[in-house]
Amino acid sequence: MQRVMVAMAEDIPQDTMKAVEVLGRRLVLVNVRGSLYALADRCTHAGAALSGGTLDGYVLKCPVHGAMFDVRTGEVHHPKKNTYGLPVGGPASGPVGTYEVQVDDGEVFIVV
Ligand code: FES
Repeated sequence: MQRVMVAMAEDIPQDTMKAVEVLGRRLVLVNVRGSLYALADRCTHAGAALSGGTLDGYVLKCPVHGAMFDVRTGEVHHPKKNTYGLPVGGPASGPVGTYEVQVDDGEVFIVV
């Protein structure tokens, strides 16, 4: 495990996102209500950069086909069910990877 400094916390204001690269991996840092989360910046549907999507609370919506992910867990977010009772949350079926975030003296670290 490695701890890598990736940004200053002040560069990620509340309810915004920032794409970063960590040891060759592209991640997106998300600030929701003052807490930071880190996810792989690659939608599990067709690989779009999630950092270009939109944030609504803890839900990050892919800019391409609208899959939704919970930034706290990376799981696909299913806000509704269709007429057959199956969850509807966009075309992604698998979660995106998440990473541990640590903040020390205003510096943001990712554990990879
Ligand atoms: S690439 Fe994200 S929903 Fe299709």
